[in-house]
Amino acid sequence: MTTSYDPGPKQSGEFRITHLSDPHIGTAQSAFRQRLRSLIGKSHSRNLSNFQAVLRDMANMEIDHVVITGDLTNAAKPEEFKTVKAILADFVQPDRLTVVPGNHDISYRRVKRAYRTKGCPRKLWQFVHHFWEVFPSRYPPEFGLAAKEQFPFVKVLAGGEVVLIGLDTTGNLPTKIGLLNSFGWVGRAQMNELRALLKSPRMRDKIKIVAMHHHPMIVPVATMFDSFKYMFQSKELLDLLYESGVDLILHGHKHHPFCWQSRTFRDHDLTVICAGPPNAYDSAKSALLVYNIYSIEDRRITVHYRSFSPPLRPRTEFARK
Ligand SMILES: [Fe+2]
Ligand SMILES: [Fe+2]
Repeated sequence: MTTSYDPGPKQSGEFRITHLSDPHIGTAQSAFRQRLRSLIGKSHSRNLSNFQAVLRDMANMEIDHVVITGDLTNAAKPEEFKTVKAILADFVQPDRLTVVPGNHDISYRRVKRAYRTKGCPRKLWQFVHHFWEVFPSRYPPEFGLAAKEQFPFVKVLAGGEVVLIGLDTTGNLPTKIGLLNSFGWVGRAQMNELRALLKSPRMRDKIKIVAMHHHPMIVPVATMFDSFKYMFQSKELLDLLYESGVDLILHGHKHHPFCWQSRTFRDHDLTVICAGPPNAYDSAKSALLVYNIYSIEDRRITVHYRSFSPPLRPRTEFARK
């Protein structure tokens, strides 16, 4: 595993995956609430334009697959899901997109019957419903396993060289209590299914990438809210992924770019990467928009940290007439 900042022109035989996280797309609120948000340096319209700028930049990078590790919406409102889908549809085809749910993608309210999707955990109905065409319905036949739940899901990419596994880490904690909702949890059923999946002989020679929202290890605590971002079962999960030869864990939730590599462990390299700029894409403090590109070529992964300045925006949002 090597790192760089510029992926350069794409080589023949190279497969490129891009990773972004936590766009937190919200919808227009009352002028009063927008003003309140602006007092803490946040703005939904800035967030939209920055998210579009990231996707536009990505479109010039000859990307083969896009991974978004959760918190696509800010409050899991139906109109927010529709906005995210509409923006993504302009830049990426569903068969080239992978999404996993974040804690902000879980509705605090009762989910309508219309959103119910068979085989999906109850609280994820709305998320899975909106991204239905992005999720594979079952494991690829060569794995010889029947999927019992919607998560974990598996995608085989790069002509069979790469396996991408998606996890739901939003758990079964009370979603109405905001801070508790930040904790991560994989759940026993999903952990058992993941264990069986990783044991499959078909996994042996593949490059294995796992996408999830919460961080599977303790990350530096920068604010008091970071203490509520802990993921239960993180040691069990990290042990399982390391022992199963997983190469790359992609996550978000922390709202800060972060990379950890197990170079001092035995002979197998595991890299854990958090994507996303500080405070998501909606903060005036984000001097740069960042996302990651992973180039896979000859069974080697190179990590490119892509960063650029946000587009200039007119300062007329709350102008008095
Ligand atoms: Fe987030
Ligand atoms: Fe989150």
